[in-house]
Amino acid sequence: MGGLRPPIPHHPFLEQEAMDLQNRWDFSAIDRVLLDEVTIQRRVDELAAQISADYAEIDDLVLVGVLKGAFIFLADLARRLTIPHHVDFIALSSYNRGAVSTGAVRMIMDTRAPVTGRNVLIVEDIVDTGYTLDYLLRIFQARRPASVRACVLLSKPERRKVDVPVDYLGFEIPDVWVVGYGLDYADRFRTLPYIAALKREVYEKGRG
Ligand code: PRP
Repeated sequence: MGGLRPPIPHHPFLEQEAMDLQNRWDFSAIDRVLLDEVTIQRRVDELAAQISADYAEIDDLVLVGVLKGAFIFLADLARRLTIPHHVDFIALSSYNRGAVSTGAVRMIMDTRAPVTGRNVLIVEDIVDTGYTLDYLLRIFQARRPASVRACVLLSKPERRKVDVPVDYLGFEIPDVWVVGYGLDYADRFRTLPYIAALKREVYEKGRG
């Protein structure tokens, strides 16, 4: 076994708990799978390879995951990078009325380490209106890093209200509410391994 990590132990109890949790989610809210697990993982491989090549000469890359939605994407992406990197997080909340974005963003938790003089890669699950990424780019640029870029898994171009640069993009998707792989609906469905679209009638009440 020298140097190799032991296999992950089998935990039937935890598997049963996970199944019980999923059974409590109302899967009748889901319309269809948009991106299956294999498709997502292949794209994450490609993004990690591209980022590793682009930052090959850099030894102070800081991945800043935007909580909560980016936690799974960041975990998968970071583990595929072949370059040195640090992981940090920022937590934001958008002021939403129902499913309507008001455009105002509030910081709940800042990064633990300062980013001045370092190379920052913001890792986001989705760009919708663009307000959140616009806010993030502004606050990080003001902190005088060596560079700031954004890596985003999903983009809904039809919903954009503010133009934001996305340096690394996983997929463009249509204007549907998506859950899974970190994304939620009322804090449910975040840990599905795939990305699914909700039925429109589930979320469209009150949306602008
Ligand atoms: C989502 C998502 C992005 C933001 C994108 O966060 O994770 O941060 O909305 O939307 P925008 O482009 O319209 O600004 P959300 O507020 O749902 O929080 P969460 O990640 O904690 O679920």
